[in-house]
Amino acid sequence: MTTERIPLAGVVGWPISHSKSPRIHGYWLKKYGLEGYYVPVGIRLQEFEETLRSMPRLGFVGVNVTIPYKESVLAIANSVTDRAALIGAANTISFRADGGIHADNTDGIGFINNLKQEEPDWDATAGTAVVLGAGGAARAVISSLLAEGAPKVILANRTRARGEVLQSHFGGRVEVRNWTEVHDLFSDAATIVNTTSLGMVGQPPLEVSLAKAPFGALVTDIVYNPLKTDFLLQAEQRGLLAVDGLGMLLHQAVPGFHDWFGQRPEVDAALREAVLAS
Ligand code: ATR
Repeated sequence: MTTERIPLAGVVGWPISHSKSPRIHGYWLKKYGLEGYYVPVGIRLQEFEETLRSMPRLGFVGVNVTIPYKESVLAIANSVTDRAALIGAANTISFRADGGIHADNTDGIGFINNLKQEEPDWDATAGTAVVLGAGGAARAVISSLLAEGAPKVILANRTRARGEVLQSHFGGRVEVRNWTEVHDLFSDAATIVNTTSLGMVGQPPLEVSLAKAPFGALVTDIVYNPLKTDFLLQAEQRGLLAVDGLGMLLHQAVPGFHDWFGQRPEVDAALREAVLAS
């Protein structure tokens, strides 16, 4: 008889039923024939810290953290990676053997690894990146583009002041422009990213023209419902490289799975299909 526990992992947030993470990790556990479970855990605000701290005792090796706890979990964590501190949020928690809470943010690296897998010739250093939006997703995208060596990041957001907060946070390589100028920002762009919620099912359309984007520019959208947004369709019609946002979701899950279950998982077409079917 073994005294070892079967590793448990999950995703914590509120509400939680919409999360695609159980499908992603469940697919990998089955694919690699690993012992373990990944479950959605809905936790109310007033119980968040206490529940999180009790999870290692129940056999949890780690969890993903989603809305509304991605920022507040940093204050509870015993250690925080540099990239999570820079982004100001965490999405991946590992429980140490002594119960310590280690917080990381893999959204930025998931964003980059998706682009590298889908367009291997893409190079962040090749030119300016234009980022639309200044919410939580923009913080992860901007920090990772800067880490990859983007020479300049032009940031346009409806609420300019939010863009300026990010500019002062990330420093000199970030320039803020007005949302009304957005169509004119693309002429030197190597990378164009929509991080706003515009274009998502149930949200207003993203009415931004890519007419000035140069040939060879890569356009990506963090919206993945619909999978092919009008923004990406426009990019394809103009002969630009278009990468959908589902891959970012899949790639951000890789480091957590690796750490918790001991296997570095692959993001492949079958995983995409399994997640889309859910
Ligand atoms: P997240 O943390 O997921 O990025 P968020 O903080 O709500 O979400 O950010 C959503 C982004 O979409 C913001 O950049 C928001 O612009 P504001 O900062 O001006 O709110 C942008 N957004 C949402 N609705 C918009 C609209 N109708 N027009 C332009 N931008 C919009």
